[in-house]
Amino acid sequence: MKAIILVGGQGTRMRPLTNHIPKNIVPLCGVPFLTYQVEALRKVGIREIVFSIGYRPQDIKKVFRSGSHLGVKIHYALENHPLGTAGAIKNTEKFVKRSPVVIFNGDILTDIPLSTMIALHKKKKHWATLGLVRVEDPTAYGLVLMDPKGGITKFLEKPAAEEVVADTINAGVYVFEPEVFDLIPPGVNYSAERALFPHLLKDNHPFGGFVWEGYWQDIGTPRKYLTSHWDVLNGAFPVYAKLNRRQNKIFMGKNVKLGKGVLLKGPVIIGDGCVIHDDARILPYAVLGKNCVVGKKSMVSKSVLWDDVLVGDHVNLDEVILGRGCRISSHSRVGAGSVLGDHARV
Ligand code: GTP
Repeated sequence: MKAIILVGGQGTRMRPLTNHIPKNIVPLCGVPFLTYQVEALRKVGIREIVFSIGYRPQDIKKVFRSGSHLGVKIHYALENHPLGTAGAIKNTEKFVKRSPVVIFNGDILTDIPLSTMIALHKKKKHWATLGLVRVEDPTAYGLVLMDPKGGITKFLEKPAAEEVVADTINAGVYVFEPEVFDLIPPGVNYSAERALFPHLLKDNHPFGGFVWEGYWQDIGTPRKYLTSHWDVLNGAFPVYAKLNRRQNKIFMGKNVKLGKGVLLKGPVIIGDGCVIHDDARILPYAVLGKNCVVGKKSMVSKSVLWDDVLVGDHVNLDEVILGRGCRISSHSRVGAGSVLGDHARV
């Protein structure tokens, strides 16, 4: 089986972070986000993956190249204008060559058991199977209703509060048979959620759901992106379980310099080449990229700093995200919830 990952969106809700980098390759605990999805696919034996790209395509190609360093073969299906989630799937058709495919929205972090989902898809002879997860508030998502046999009966994209009659939402993981590609018009913007899925329902094609009760998070907003880091670090997303067995949960890169009186309290990640000056405190859920500098008596907690961030002396950073190369001068104040794009200066 092959896979498609949709990575052509502009990630507007993640601006200003996504002004310089596609959302799908922002670092999650120091690793380009898509790596987690590639790894999940590789683990179930899927070795050929098509990236459906559009926004800043060269950035993605530069990171993933042929995929051989991750043990997979990556093809790139480029679109000249945004084709929407189904149009983008159609655009990969020449690479998947009428075989069944697994499809990921390229912004979700999940441990959904793909093998079980594929087995269900085959057993039920569905044309399409959708991964579903339960959330408390489905209004920001695509609500999906099912009959007792697991067939999908209704789709409500971003429902109003009074329309919410279930808690299962579209998890952004699909298995499609080649027949589904035939329902998508080529070369035009066409949405999976608003057009393709209603079409499957209207024409009564075999269309079912696979409900996953395990971990699922989309990283599409700064808040969710931060939370995903905490979930990886505290083991809620199990990929780093083995790292979590490390003493004190302090993940330190190479050539890190620590001043006198520095306090490190895990779980934290400190990237290669970081310099932490005297009496600074790096507290739980701080994630520092490569070559960051934290000044004297400064504090970082529950925050994500991308590479090359310089933090002056006496600065407290709590629940902030700082893009690459940001500079925070001594004694300045950056409030909780702040998100600064690359090279911002305070
Ligand atoms: P927002 O602008 O913040 O809504 O983000 P987004 O552009 O990424 O859109 P959304 O979160 O709805 O997209 C879900 C997934 O589909 C992401 O991985 C996107 O990269 C991808 N995606 C969305 N639209 C397109 C598109 O037109 N083409 C391709 N190739 N991928 C898309």
